[in-house]
Amino acid sequence: MMLNQYIKEHTKEAHQALEVIVVKQLKTIRSEEDYARILKKFYTYFSSIEQAIKPYIEDALPDYSERRNSTHIRADIEALGGEVAANTKAIVPSINNVREAMSALYVLEGSIMGGPYIVQMLKKYRITQGFSFFSGYGDESASMWQNFVDVLNTIGSDPDTFADSAAMANQTFSRFQDVLIEPTER
Ligand code: HEM
Repeated sequence: MMLNQYIKEHTKEAHQALEVIVVKQLKTIRSEEDYARILKKFYTYFSSIEQAIKPYIEDALPDYSERRNSTHIRADIEALGGEVAANTKAIVPSINNVREAMSALYVLEGSIMGGPYIVQMLKKYRITQGFSFFSGYGDESASMWQNFVDVLNTIGSDPDTFADSAAMANQTFSRFQDVLIEPTER
């Protein structure tokens, strides 16, 4: 079995739980301001994870700089007339090597798969802009995911490390839950 399949199987519950929370929050959106408030939580978490993985990821994943990241969230927040607070930091898992960094990034990159559903929901709530983050790579999303998974599976090929990689992905999911459910104004 490849690592990505292993992680997928072992994070099903965490994904499901997070999806429920995200959908619930999206359903409360009545205005651009509401949407921006949710995006700020994504920004806080994604930018914190990005900082934690940065020392390990850049050499490992050649197209990392072309990938969707929290700067897209910031652009969307600003398009909606908001701004990101300086120095917002979330609690993130302790990441200590490139395999753990890739396992955490699995969660961020994988979230692109849910993007089309999220954009659809937002449009239903009359949101008309600020979609750059949830649009992912558009038509390229499947191929970008495949490229990511190939690198993940190479770096995490040792089956003895599968459980640790899945644990990292599970922590990455659950710390995000913490950020989403905590009160916003801070
Ligand atoms: C409304 C919210 C969401 C919906 C509807 C959704 C839906 C989906 C769907 C349909 C897939 C593809 C499953 C497959 O092809 O087997 C997927 C995959 C994935 N999603 Fe979500 N998702 C949502 C939110 C998120 C969030 C917030 C994250 C993480 C921050 C996330 C992380 C992932 C990951 C890592 C995968 C890849 C699984 C894999 O193929 O290995 N999702 N999601």
